[in-house]
Amino acid sequence: MSDIRLEGVTKKYGAVAAADGVDLSVAQGEFVTILGPSGSGKTTLLSLIAGLNRPTAGRIFIGGRDVTQATAQERNIGLVFQSYALFPHMTVLENVLFPLSVRKVTGAEARSRALEALKLVRLEGLQDRRPSQLSGGQQQRVALARAVVFKPDILLLDEPLGALDRKLREELQVELKQLQRTLGVTTLLVTHDQEEALSLSDRIMVLNHGKTQQVAAPTEAYLRPANRFVAEFLGIANFVGIDGGRTGVVRPERVRLGEDGGSGGGGTPARVVEAIYLGQMVRYHVALEGEGSAAMVAAAPFVGRAWQPGERVTVSWDAADAWPVN
Ligand SMILES: Nc1ncnc2c1ncn2[C@@H]1O[C@H](COP(=O)(O)OP(=O)(O)OP(=O)(O)O)[C@@H](O)[C@H]1O
Ligand SMILES: [Mg+2]
Repeated sequence: MSDIRLEGVTKKYGAVAAADGVDLSVAQGEFVTILGPSGSGKTTLLSLIAGLNRPTAGRIFIGGRDVTQATAQERNIGLVFQSYALFPHMTVLENVLFPLSVRKVTGAEARSRALEALKLVRLEGLQDRRPSQLSGGQQQRVALARAVVFKPDILLLDEPLGALDRKLREELQVELKQLQRTLGVTTLLVTHDQEEALSLSDRIMVLNHGKTQQVAAPTEAYLRPANRFVAEFLGIANFVGIDGGRTGVVRPERVRLGEDGGSGGGGTPARVVEAIYLGQMVRYHVALEGEGSAAMVAAAPFVGRAWQPGERVTVSWDAADAWPVN
């Protein structure tokens, strides 16, 4: 049974449709990420589900119940935003107690639930500090504890890690995933970071101009994008001509580079334009010869020595790796 269901959800601001006929079903316990460029309608969609905003058209169901007209208070939802929005004058513990007191849970029971939530986000011992005495990552953990302490039916996260530096962000991604698994709470995460979306989610929903482009498992969307927009938004896309005059996408990892005139594999002669060392991988920009100025990007594991700019190579790929996008 689906836990969140959107049917034709539309939100118009004057002539702009910030959400445009969006359909989505999220299963109980599922982790779905909404991915899209700035202004594509991600926050709009979350605020409609949270009840902070009403759709112009369409319906929203949570746990099978039509909540389209319900207030935010009538929906049992945990929310975390990019800006932590903690109460600065309250201690960590008081911040986490707050949603419980709103729900009339008080005293020893409230305290033990709040401490348990703080333990879940690894903040034991910091309960008496104020937000200003915490690092950004710790503040975001408090916001998470506050969002889950009252056992919400669903968790909505809008760029919760956006303000953190890369390393901390990666650490918290792992913790967030573990927390979500432990609680088994149905989760919708908004991000414009495609790596974050691919690594955390059971499925991703790609939005553009308020419209759904694709809803699919990460590998599915990456290797079998529904259209050019998805292909380009989820990483690097090499567009190549395929049978029937159509266009296909080849991902850089599926492009093979070989020695010029090397062991009979054929392929298209090319010249390396740039070699970018990325740690485990090297990203090569190559210019194909005999096809005008066609350029491709290949990614290969770093093995001892990288091709150098100016070197001649051959480029090839399996026809099956050129996924048609139109
Ligand atoms: N209250 C509002 N009044 C008018 N237009 C709005 C309002 N809120 C959002 N919009 C417009 O709706 C569109 C979607 O905005 P939204 O905030 O949902 O985008 P987003 O995908 O969350 O972007 P970002 O990644 O920058 O946060 C934008 O064109 C925005 O300007
Ligand atoms: Mg937003």
